[in-house]
Amino acid sequence: MSADRYTNLINTPIGRIIQKQVGLPAPVPLKRFSPGDPVVDGRVLLGGAPGGRLASALAKTVAEIGAEASTPLREDLRAAAAEAGLDAGPWTPAAAETQRYGALVFDATGITEPGQLDELHAFFKPTVRRVQRCGRLVVLGTSPAQARTPAEQIAQRALEGFTRAAAKELKAGATAQLVYVAPGAEDQLASTLRFLLSSKSAYVDGQVIHVGPAGAVPALDWEQPLAGKVALVTGASRGIGAAIAATLARDGAHVVGLDVPALESDLNAVVGALGGSSLTADITADDAPDQIAASLKREHGGVDVVVHNAGITRDKTLGRMDEERWNSVIQVNLAAVQRITDALIAGRRRAVLNEGGRIVCVASIAGIAGNFGQTNYATSKAGVIGLVDAYAPLLAQRGATINAVAPGFIETQMTAKIPFATREAGRRMNSLSQGGLPVDVAEAIAYFASPASTGVTGNTVRVCGQSLLGA
Ligand SMILES: NC(=O)c1ccc[n+]([C@@H]2O[C@H](COP(=O)([O-])OP(=O)(O)OC[C@H]3O[C@@H](n4cnc5c(N)ncnc54)[C@H](O)[C@@H]3O)[C@@H](O)[C@H]2O)c1
Repeated sequence: MSADRYTNLINTPIGRIIQKQVGLPAPVPLKRFSPGDPVVDGRVLLGGAPGGRLASALAKTVAEIGAEASTPLREDLRAAAAEAGLDAGPWTPAAAETQRYGALVFDATGITEPGQLDELHAFFKPTVRRVQRCGRLVVLGTSPAQARTPAEQIAQRALEGFTRAAAKELKAGATAQLVYVAPGAEDQLASTLRFLLSSKSAYVDGQVIHVGPAGAVPALDWEQPLAGKVALVTGASRGIGAAIAATLARDGAHVVGLDVPALESDLNAVVGALGGSSLTADITADDAPDQIAASLKREHGGVDVVVHNAGITRDKTLGRMDEERWNSVIQVNLAAVQRITDALIAGRRRAVLNEGGRIVCVASIAGIAGNFGQTNYATSKAGVIGLVDAYAPLLAQRGATINAVAPGFIETQMTAKIPFATREAGRRMNSLSQGGLPVDVAEAIAYFASPASTGVTGNTVRVCGQSLLGA
């Protein structure tokens, strides 16, 4: 599915005139990733507060992706770039007005007290209006919980407000994110940085991601990071699940698509085209977890990536909600996810989930903000976020991770059925003034699934264009 009709109209010459005069939202068609695209389109400007600890890691990744780069004329930044083999041009606030940037990346880990927050202003004030169409702003900090002093904790927490506000000001499809990198996790940054700089994160905006310490990042073919891996995707016959299956297959995985028996032929068509395998089951059946686990072990020797995507809505206001509506949503969206996860990780050494496994859940912004008529759905999706929080420490012991994506308004058959006015409101009430596409959710899942994302666990990342609903 491509950009919606309003977005197409507003991007014609006449449409632009009307939009400006009437003050309508001005969505630009977001750039999406195609295989072979460079990670970042345009020059990367690398800055940082003095005393930061991420300059080397940043310079290394930017050198590896082969992007053109600039840094301010500061000894430490220039030295880090040179050491990483990054041929960075010099930048000063007086740099040519015509210079445009594909990305502004700022290492704020050196900010240890609120008085130093002016470093953000000094770097971004002269540069923020030079961000290209669909460009990127990325701030890196230290998780406030890991700050060494109260002053540092306050200053690092302040980065969140800065980044979320900057995300709201950026225009023309550009986005802003904050990454908190724990001390000792500097070597774990690459997968997150690549995702956020690239057009794979087109509909992720105003988010905070935590990266923690983990084992050495394996050498990786970044074009096929999932080569040799087996990925289970539930609800794979259509919508977001079909996009997840296609994206994981693009990244090299053998996809095992699961859906209800009634959708077997649709499922076969989707996974067949990807060279994957089908598995039919109702995930709420008593024997489903054991059958899924047994089938993965028997047919594939185990599983590396599990994406809990299957989900349903049965909306009614609370006072009118019957037991069946309540129970079915909790069972499919939450209880089955926990039961299947338990079956896949049982018997640690002989577990079906392989060492270094990846579990990704599909939550929803309704689980964060709540939504009218969706007490059952919001309960189930908030529970999914709780499941991620609860299982992350358990899985870390075996080098495995668990994260969730929380989609906002995504253009699917499901959202096409929402009445026009409600649909338009859902679509426009975000910083990018448009709905996301299933592939946007799939790309975030592929980032979590990457073997390079070992340090990325316990996160719930919204794929919502910085929706006005919720945090
Ligand atoms: N579309 C959106 O805007 C949006 C927003 C937030 C979250 N989500 C979440 O994304 C996920 C996918 O949503 P979608 O829009 O693609 O929905 P969809 O209805 O198009 O697809 C869901 C799939 O899950 C399968 N499924 C449902 N119950 C099942 C069961 N008991 N056993 C096995 N399979 C089952 C369905 O058959 C279907 O193929 C869901 O978890 C949904 O809650 C969607």
